[in-house]
Amino acid sequence: MSETTGSFSLGDQTVSMPVKAGTIGPSVVDIGKLYAQTGMFTYDPGFTSTASCESEITYIDGDEGILLYRGYPIEQLAEQGDFLETCYLLLYGELPTPTQSRDFNYRITRHTMVHEQMARFFQGFRRDAHPMAVMVASVGALSAFYHDSTDISDQRQRMVASMRLIAKIPTLAAMAYKYSIGQPFVYPKNELDYTSNFLRMCYAVPCEDYKINPIFARALDRIFILHADHEQNASTSTVRLAGSSGANPFACIAAGVACLWGPAHGGANEAALKMLTEIGTVENIPKYVARAKDKNDPFRLMGFGHRVYKNYDPRAKIMQQTCHDVLNELGRKDDPLLEVAMELERIALSDEYFIEKKLYPNIDFYSGITLKAMGFPVSMFTVLFAVARTSGWIAQWKEMIEDPGQKIGRPRQLYKGATRRDYVPADKR
Ligand code: CMC
Repeated sequence: MSETTGSFSLGDQTVSMPVKAGTIGPSVVDIGKLYAQTGMFTYDPGFTSTASCESEITYIDGDEGILLYRGYPIEQLAEQGDFLETCYLLLYGELPTPTQSRDFNYRITRHTMVHEQMARFFQGFRRDAHPMAVMVASVGALSAFYHDSTDISDQRQRMVASMRLIAKIPTLAAMAYKYSIGQPFVYPKNELDYTSNFLRMCYAVPCEDYKINPIFARALDRIFILHADHEQNASTSTVRLAGSSGANPFACIAAGVACLWGPAHGGANEAALKMLTEIGTVENIPKYVARAKDKNDPFRLMGFGHRVYKNYDPRAKIMQQTCHDVLNELGRKDDPLLEVAMELERIALSDEYFIEKKLYPNIDFYSGITLKAMGFPVSMFTVLFAVARTSGWIAQWKEMIEDPGQKIGRPRQLYKGATRRDYVPADKR
């Protein structure tokens, strides 16, 4: 990374700080010594101008609508690659050779089963628990079952934990689904590819064989590729922050799952589908667009807008095509939800409010319709996001742990509370 020095004035002081350039994208001012030099902190709630780490994994140009994993455009990976190859790329930095690919698939496949006692752990949940609640708990519980891969100072244990997480998360996700509908858990079948195996664990029943639809398997694999990583988003930053204290990887990924659950992040696909269902018909769209623009109404168009993309989210374009593929396969070209979505997109993209604020559809806008058409209930949408994002979380966690300059994450604050005061005994308050 090349480094120069930049100066700026702060009150009556001139402050000089290193300016670091990445391979692409904006440079950063390294303010690590700002407090020592000036006695001041920076203030940036929401981290809108703050880079929290160096990374070689994912690059986003939000103005141009570009997303690269290890330099490869998301469009090419989604079109030509598969999800496990993408996992390998995120973890190791290069696309695998055919031998590396076979070896990686073999290793992941051999870790797909979960400890049998996990099944009993599941029995403790209410049947109507949200599957994300079950995921937060069960992913965290992995650290209670796999003690031999929680020592983060051991490179081999880190690798085993990474394989286990990528391999077991679809099994846990399918178990969460099966538990919620009262069906028996389906064990993984190692002859199947990663995504087909997941579909089978979700939809097979002991009394009947499940025939995998290759269009659905390809569509879901593509959805997994699109969701695999997205640089320092809220859940990834959560994983890094949790990991910076030395917590084990299962606990860190559980923290990521918890953060992903929120409607401003991974929960938006669920919220977007609920919104499209509520809108119901094309005639109702103007009413909802007006609500989204009304400052006094908290309503927002879910699946619209993004902190980084101020252009069309490149994942949304691929998602839209995938949505068409799945609906065509089902013979539902005229799906009413798709009709509402496309018209809403058209109206919003020609509306001054959305143009001026650069609000475009994001990945979540079309993913809900696609997943619903594939038979997933709304409550599973964020779970599927978590399955895919685990690969990115693990790659980012591994990069952080292997960074020799890594420190515990510890932001500072602007204190606005009471100044020092003396304790008041209860009878004098
Ligand atoms: N509908 C209507 N207005 C919006 C929307 C929306 N979806 N998103 C942003 N705005 C307005 C917002 O009211 C604000 O207006 P003003 O400047 O007048 O106050 C302006 O646009 C900027 O919004 P912001 O909240 O300051 O932007 P942010 O970067 O903090 O938030 C966001 C980004 C994604 C949380 C937000 O756009 C949003 O809530 N979108 C809906 C939820 C959603 O689709 N989330 C999925 C994100 S993509 C998947 C993922 O990464 O997890």
